[in-house]
Amino acid sequence: MEDLRKRKLVAVPAPYKNKELKGMLITEAEISKKVKELGRKIGKGEWHCVVVLNGAVFFAADLMRQINCTFDTVQVKSYSGKNSSRTPIIVKPLTKPLNGRNVLIVEDIVDKGYTIEFLIRHCKDLGAKRVRVASMLSKPDRREVDVRIDYLGFIVPDEFIVGYGLDCDEKFRTLPFVAVIK
Ligand code: IMP
Ligand code: MG
Repeated sequence: MEDLRKRKLVAVPAPYKNKELKGMLITEAEISKKVKELGRKIGKGEWHCVVVLNGAVFFAADLMRQINCTFDTVQVKSYSGKNSSRTPIIVKPLTKPLNGRNVLIVEDIVDKGYTIEFLIRHCKDLGAKRVRVASMLSKPDRREVDVRIDYLGFIVPDEFIVGYGLDCDEKFRTLPFVAVIK
């Protein structure tokens, strides 16, 4: 895991320039290198991934091709614009049983920690044997509940992050890199 809290932003690549973006924080090449590294660490155990929609779809698609797994998706709602809520609710439930399975929750970013705390509890309640967490990004400066991230890509500064699945009101999700918004 790399701590990028002191990293200087670089210019957004020309085709993606947008006046709402402050700069690029993580390049496409760095993301792909990190995903491979995380894949090696996670290993080819019998994982059942729980992919958190919508933000984690890009990370999950890349990561799951590095490991041996089955998967299901869940969607929880906790954010509207830049304001987070403390009580996540399920808007798209899991559809496959978790009984006795090694569950790997795949998330885009852990911010205050409420979403991941809720999902760990949820997977345990559904009978998972083991629950581990893989997150591409973490913003520890904003954490309000203590959660363990077993496989983490990068620590990011306390800024609003977009790209590689992360959005700001549904914008910028499909950027192939990670950027900071103004
Ligand atoms: P938490 O419950 O505060 O940890 O929030 C986690 C969720 O909030 C993540 O799954 C993201 O969807 C969203 N989120 C938190 N920080 C950011 C950000 O900087 N950009 C985009 N989405 C974010
Ligand atoms: Mg999310």
